[in-house]
Amino acid sequence: MRNYPHYEIVVLDKLDYCSNLKNLLPSKSSKNFKFVKGDIGSANLVNYLLITEGIDTIMHFATQTHVDNSFGNNIEFTKNNIYGTHVLLEACKVTGTVHRFIHVTTNEVYGETEVDAIVGNHEASQLLPTNPYSATKVGAEMLVMAYGRSYGLPVITTRGNNVYGPNQFPEKLIPTFIHLARGSPFPSMEMDLMCETTCIVKMWLKRLRLCCTREVLVMFTILGKKGKEV
Ligand SMILES: NC(=O)c1ccc[n+]([C@@H]2O[C@H](COP(=O)([O-])OP(=O)(O)OC[C@H]3O[C@@H](n4cnc5c(N)ncnc54)[C@H](O)[C@@H]3O)[C@@H](O)[C@H]2O)c1
Repeated sequence: MRNYPHYEIVVLDKLDYCSNLKNLLPSKSSKNFKFVKGDIGSANLVNYLLITEGIDTIMHFATQTHVDNSFGNNIEFTKNNIYGTHVLLEACKVTGTVHRFIHVTTNEVYGETEVDAIVGNHEASQLLPTNPYSATKVGAEMLVMAYGRSYGLPVITTRGNNVYGPNQFPEKLIPTFIHLARGSPFPSMEMDLMCETTCIVKMWLKRLRLCCTREVLVMFTILGKKGKEV
């Protein structure tokens, strides 16, 4: 927020079990930052925010992400990931305020890569999701692509690999491995993964920043920048 004082940033997040409002404390006092607790599946809320906040860029991170959970109550994954994305897209279409929609998705949409594959997956590889989580990410991607083609919404899709960073919820792959390696059965939120992790999440954010013609600081659900041309 300090580095981008000319951007006005609105984060919309429903604060699911894996999130922690304390992670936003460093930004809380910034004048150009606003947090709204809410669901991307609420069309009224999303439309209202786009119009009243003059949102012109959406970085869409909001997703139910844990693969293991997706084998259980996976209808929730469809609601959050596919329906939620659809609501965001429709709000962009109806309000016409958004000039860039960046959809953060995952390499998991490609499914498995052969262990001995010489060349891994590439952008044009077939999407072959192997679990309900990645299937919902593919579903969301298809909607994003369709809104780009049907309505001319300027969309960008990014398919990142595993990311890890400070304060990451411990159920994620890399924190779990780090803590298992340290002899702890399950990592605790209080443990500081800072030194192992900072550079990785920074690298990811740097690449996502390239998705904006001007730099926009990345948070995790919706980013809005107003007043300046993107
Ligand atoms: N973590 C990784 O390794 C990784 C790798 C590649 C791609 N991604 C993608 O990056 C994005 C963020 O991943 P993450 O690991 O930070 O996820 P996370 O599960 O840690 O956080 C997801 C956030 O989205 C919010 N959210 C979920 N559903 C919502 C809804 N309906 N409305 C509002 N907020 C909602 C949650 O409250 C939470 O704060 C996801 O789209 C994921 O697919 C993550």
